[in-house]
Amino acid sequence: MSLGPISVDDFSHNQVQYIEDPFTFYALMRERSPAHLSETIFGGTWLMFRYEDCSRLMQDERLSNARSAVPLRFLPPDQRDEFADMLDVYSRWLAFHDGKEHTRNRRQANRGYVPFTDEYLEPRIQRIVDGLLDQVDPTGFDLMSELAFPLPAMVIADVLGVPVDAHEDLNRWTDDIAHLFGSTSVSVEHLRRTRESTRQLAEFLASEANARRSRAEGGLLHHLREIEVRGHRFSERDVVAQAALLLFAGVASIRYLIGNSVRALASVPTTERDVLLKSDTVGPAIEELLRMCTPVSFVGRVAGEDFDYTASDGTIVPLRKGQPLLLYIASANRDPDAFDRADELVLDRPLPNRHLTFGVGRHLCFGDPLVRQTTRIALSTLYLRWPELKVPQQEANWNNNLGFHGSTSLRVSGED
Ligand code: HEM
Repeated sequence: MSLGPISVDDFSHNQVQYIEDPFTFYALMRERSPAHLSETIFGGTWLMFRYEDCSRLMQDERLSNARSAVPLRFLPPDQRDEFADMLDVYSRWLAFHDGKEHTRNRRQANRGYVPFTDEYLEPRIQRIVDGLLDQVDPTGFDLMSELAFPLPAMVIADVLGVPVDAHEDLNRWTDDIAHLFGSTSVSVEHLRRTRESTRQLAEFLASEANARRSRAEGGLLHHLREIEVRGHRFSERDVVAQAALLLFAGVASIRYLIGNSVRALASVPTTERDVLLKSDTVGPAIEELLRMCTPVSFVGRVAGEDFDYTASDGTIVPLRKGQPLLLYIASANRDPDAFDRADELVLDRPLPNRHLTFGVGRHLCFGDPLVRQTTRIALSTLYLRWPELKVPQQEANWNNNLGFHGSTSLRVSGED
């Protein structure tokens, strides 16, 4: 299908033409084909672009989250066996569970997270941000390598109670996994690398979970091991898998949210950026950055049964059990039927800002408070230190993955 200069049949999460500017494509799709069957993606996938459909389908219990093996669909069944140990880790993730199993595991993880209040986390995140920014050359530095890459891995490592200086390994391992779940086409070589990264990450977490130090310090890894809810405990393998999930879900996403936000804020007058520095205005501003700059472009589902779904434009979507769907959050967030001035960054947009950046319903992001807090502290510290922060014209080095959309470098300067 051709939409003028764009052919939807070419659409993939790894093609530079879409990665540079996915929003023009999304706008066309919302208008002309909001529920679209892609024959090429995972052998037949429904792509949904409007707010109403994304929101309804995320909450539709006829759809399942048991989708850990979807990226391996292109492999013949006997070749999938090579990746059984990797899939064993992913299939334990609570994110991929449905119904009662999901409720039980989510309750368990929530209980483990209770001690990590905003008050507890605030000074710890602030210390990490200050430590990183103290080291930069304010006349010119790469925001991504100096701040956005290390920060989320260090924060989540600190929450888990594992050494924060492992941040480079944590970034590398989880980037391989993020590439797998954010892409629509991966090579067997990439799968093999991801399998190795998953193995190393799991080994690291297992050894940390058993370390006396980690038990004594009482990080989340320790709580996940110890907590019993209604007679249920996580097994050792489950603990490692849930910790790996938190790192996979949080590291690349916060990293690119910070980068995308600073890029977007570059075109906002300095005086308007002051909203980030005031306690009564920073909340709405962060919500608006979450809406416009989300790196997580979509969430996936598979049909749990055969049924017909009637989309917002009247299209009948005949879903067959096991068929994948991709729900484009980044498109829904700019849907003019859901938001006034949908394409504009309105830092004082009134709350509630009904963006779908963290999803909606039972699978709502587990890490949303941590994301809000980390992003707020990073941005307000940055603009407090350098109110005139500039982003010179430069090539964006996009990360070749629409699933976690962002660029891998961003030169900025705080002072001349
Ligand atoms: C910018 C940052 C982030 C964004 C945009 C984001 C977005 C999302 C979205 C859209 C979902 C729902 C998926 C679905 O419906 O299937 C989700 C789920 C989840 N997120 Fe996040 N996330 C972010 C950061 C984090 C962080 C920092 C953590 C943890 C440290 C985290 C942990 C999770 C987990 C565990 C789930 C699965 C929840 C469930 O299925 O019950 N996320 N996230």
